[in-house]
Amino acid sequence: MTAPVPSIGRVFVAGAGLMGHGIAQVVATSGRTVDLYEPDLARAVAGRDRIAGNLERAVAKGRIDAAAREAILARIAPTADLAAVASSDLAIEAVFEDLAVKTTLWSELDRHAPPATIFATNTSSISIDKLAGAVSEARRSRFAGMHFFSPVPVMPLVELVRGSATSDETDAAIRALTASLGKQVIASADRPGFIVNRTLMPFLAEAMRAYEEGVGTAEDIDTGARIGLNHPMGPLQLADFIGLDVCLAILRVLHEGLGQEHVRPPRVLEDLVAAGHLGQKTGRGFYGYER
Ligand code: CAA
Repeated sequence: MTAPVPSIGRVFVAGAGLMGHGIAQVVATSGRTVDLYEPDLARAVAGRDRIAGNLERAVAKGRIDAAAREAILARIAPTADLAAVASSDLAIEAVFEDLAVKTTLWSELDRHAPPATIFATNTSSISIDKLAGAVSEARRSRFAGMHFFSPVPVMPLVELVRGSATSDETDAAIRALTASLGKQVIASADRPGFIVNRTLMPFLAEAMRAYEEGVGTAEDIDTGARIGLNHPMGPLQLADFIGLDVCLAILRVLHEGLGQEHVRPPRVLEDLVAAGHLGQKTGRGFYGYER
């Protein structure tokens, strides 16, 4: 007999940045209640405001009505209290792509969450087994990777990554939730960068090296991919959109984990990040942006 799939009604989302606010939006849109956590309450509120802006555009386009917008927003509670996870069936972590930041948060959440709460990390590249090492052994069967793509409300994919201890019930619960968000699942092994960043990041890194070497201007490199390959964004524009600090963190994990030269972070990327130019979010990366 197979165990019943745990149903997920209330979700705790840790991190209200580019990924976290989008995840909170799609989960709340599916009818579930969301606690949106940032250690600084103002940032959690800013995440909710960003969702309000997205929903406002959806109303203007006639996709949803004003009552639906209000109902979705009412289901999102910004919080700076980690203990709010105590009433959640699922905690999704979408904080910065850094092993220490993520493990510290997971070990704290593990102390506050009931035993049945499922833990899902939105890591883009870090080993699920390494992250699961931060929680009690009893929780590890309920720990998995749930990797969304940006902009979350638009991109219909989730990469599901099982660690060596992830149970079939956890896998089934995350699959059922993902389907109810209108997103498709692909399953990746717990290898550096999983499937999508394993294939995307070498492309972005090579575009950066071509730019560094003066093979073409940023505009021509991006136009090459947009017009010649039918990509919605060129690779340098996409790197700016993802965040250059995030791209650097992922490339470091890939380089360390795979030891391959083609995923070594390019010098121009290291330099831009060191200078604080992180792409769209800081107003400057490979391009300048109005803020
Ligand atoms: N939040 C919510 N919705 C957004 C949005 C955002 N940030 N940005 C755009 N949209 C919506 C728009 O409202 C619009 O909706 P409708 O079709 O309902 O009108 C739709 O997306 C298209 O937007 P636009 O017409 O304004 O712009 P566009 O046609 O240029 O599309 C884009 C914008 C969807 C971002 C498109 O350029 C694209 O698909 N780019 C590639 C994105 C991508 O590759 N994402 C994955 C990155 S990798 C990752 O996230 C994982 C990782 O680990 C690094």
